[in-house]
Amino acid sequence: MTQTTAESPARRQRAQIKERTLRTDQWWRYPLVTFLIFTAFLVYATWTLFDSSYFAAPYIAPFSSPCLATSCPEGARLFGLAPFGDWYTLSPSLLILVLPAGFRFTCYYYRKAYYRGFWLSPPACAVNEPHSKYSGESRFPLILQNIHRYFFYAAILIGLVLAWDAVLALVEKPLGLGTLILVINAVFINLYTLSCHSCRHITAGRLNHFSKHPVRYRAWGFVSKLNAKHQQLALISMFTVMGADLYVRLVAKGIVNFPFA
Ligand code: FES
Repeated sequence: MTQTTAESPARRQRAQIKERTLRTDQWWRYPLVTFLIFTAFLVYATWTLFDSSYFAAPYIAPFSSPCLATSCPEGARLFGLAPFGDWYTLSPSLLILVLPAGFRFTCYYYRKAYYRGFWLSPPACAVNEPHSKYSGESRFPLILQNIHRYFFYAAILIGLVLAWDAVLALVEKPLGLGTLILVINAVFINLYTLSCHSCRHITAGRLNHFSKHPVRYRAWGFVSKLNAKHQQLALISMFTVMGADLYVRLVAKGIVNFPFA
């Protein structure tokens, strides 16, 4: 008898279960909480595009850094640079926000989270999704998620800029609460970036012999440890960047105003 490994169309069909799910736990909590937190983050990030209180020397709000527009205050400009001419009159945040936003939007963890929380595709393991078709990320538009590996390089630059901002704050206001907040944020942003799956691949992907590349092997080992905590770092860094940004804006608006601010 001839055997074939190809599955018959009948076997490829999903199990015909009338119930949406047989799960009895509170599976809906994860997508619901994800939806609420991410929506709050998106609303906040959108608001920052229209808020001009992003600089309270020596602090600069992370969502507006690097500040590259001519309208940026002198001390807020990265190395004093203003590469865009006077013609650019929109928010400085608009110039750069696409880079960290694109990095997070295409991140493997965030993809899983918002596919579940926003598109319900699927909302949870073993819970039927409302969509009748599924093409995954193999076709347009979701195939564009592959751009993540390029956003990674931009995220490295943004991470370095935020670290630089923290160092400047440390030098000019070593005892400031804002300095502490910016330092913590820079640490978590960079840990999140380094824990990226693309970073892990860059350090040692396609290597056949670790023994011939000891430096890359060590880098891979370090990144792999971070990578195991990628989800946690993605969430923690989201809160630290939002918290740091809000804190600087509150100082800039004069709402937070005490000696060690
Ligand atoms: Fe999450 Fe790259 S996979 S940042």
